[in-house]
Amino acid sequence: MNALQRDLKKLVPLVESLGKADVEADPYRQQFHLQPPVGWLNDPNGLCVYGGQYHAFFQYGPFDVTGGVKHWGHAVSTDLMHWEPLPVMLYPDEPFDCHGVYSGSALIEGTEMYLYYTGNVKHPGDYDYIKQGRGHNVCLAVSHDGKTVASKQCLLYNKDYPAGLTCHVRDPKVFAYEGKYYMVLGARTLEDKGEVLVLESTDKLHWNHINTLTTPETFGYMWECPDLFCLDGQWYLAVSPQGIACQNVYGCGYFAVYGDWRGECTLGEFHEMDAGFDYYAPQSFVDENGRRIQIGWMGMPDADYGNAPTVAHGWQHCFTVPRLLTKGPGGTLLQTPVPELDARRSAAALTLRNGEEASLSPCFDLTAAPAGDFALTVARGVELVYTEQDSTCVLQFTDPAQASGRTQRRTKLSAPCRSVRVVGDRSSLEIFLNDGAAVFSTRYYPAAGDVAVKISGTDALVYSL
Ligand code: FRU
Repeated sequence: MNALQRDLKKLVPLVESLGKADVEADPYRQQFHLQPPVGWLNDPNGLCVYGGQYHAFFQYGPFDVTGGVKHWGHAVSTDLMHWEPLPVMLYPDEPFDCHGVYSGSALIEGTEMYLYYTGNVKHPGDYDYIKQGRGHNVCLAVSHDGKTVASKQCLLYNKDYPAGLTCHVRDPKVFAYEGKYYMVLGARTLEDKGEVLVLESTDKLHWNHINTLTTPETFGYMWECPDLFCLDGQWYLAVSPQGIACQNVYGCGYFAVYGDWRGECTLGEFHEMDAGFDYYAPQSFVDENGRRIQIGWMGMPDADYGNAPTVAHGWQHCFTVPRLLTKGPGGTLLQTPVPELDARRSAAALTLRNGEEASLSPCFDLTAAPAGDFALTVARGVELVYTEQDSTCVLQFTDPAQASGRTQRRTKLSAPCRSVRVVGDRSSLEIFLNDGAAVFSTRYYPAAGDVAVKISGTDALVYSL
């Protein structure tokens, strides 16, 4: 253990214990979403099953509620709903990761946990840090117990990447497939084109670049946090592209991959993963039941969150509810909350009739089967409006006090909307349309206490969670 790690190992638990009372007193603290003990959270990292538990790591800034130098925070769960915080797994404590232990993934083999991540290094100097002056290293941490790190090393430096790239090469997702190991890495070329590098290895340590996945025309200048996975015979590439025209600061979506991603292949149409205000950098993993589960960050980089009320309580951001991914029609994905959420439902459901308003616990699960136009109002400030004529659903903030500069987000469905599910926690709404063909995720800050929910155009069934 080096001196920096010794200091950080003492400091992080100290700031966590000093901030605990304030964080826990926050009425907007979530009840069943993974959130940081204190400070800042962004991307999900290293999602996996190890030793019979779900492990989630997260980009964690314990010292700065608006970001700061990134660590890998750690939490475990047996039901994907209750998350037990564990001590930080990775600290920025080596020359190859000293300015941030950035995003990455986990590979589990027996009792070995391999954590691949990006070591962020900013060399001192007058750089713009795009083409020069920055190290984005692929690093490997090995754990024999899923709780502590036995070794850390740097596997790839910028010089090891293919020619023609900027310093922005990051977020390794590693998986085993057909007897070999593969890594996908997000990259930005010198021409400001976003792409994904595919690397291959036989020993988990030495990696060769074998392919590059991208669109024929430039689609954004950088693709962050790639994920490559197969559902029922169809491969998908999920990425968070920066620099595309989209509803949020940055985009987040997926392409169906046609052909062999190790060689000749093409990417299909880009589909937005989530049409809400707050969704980015999702990652997926397969659990012991063979389910592919995806978790996203319910936040957005470089968005103005200065007014988020949780900041005054010393914490910011959370993950989404874990979602089951399944293959949809025509190269699409379906995303639905994992069934573990249903186990939280109250025994009795309330029927909310067309035109009625009811006062609900902020933790609720509402389902409806509309036959045409409908509207749903939550906390008298957030509206979901569906118009059958153009199969379009709009999520909008009508109360300026809640909006904090937010206006509206919309999604056009490929079929008329026949199912709606709204999952509310104390400061978030996740809205699933047509069995997860479209999703809106957003944070919101209703006045403390129960929230008024009104539906028109259809009846709804509501459980408290
Ligand atoms: C995406 C991202 C990643 C990076 C991490 C740093 O939100 O920018 O590309 O690894 O966050 O926290």
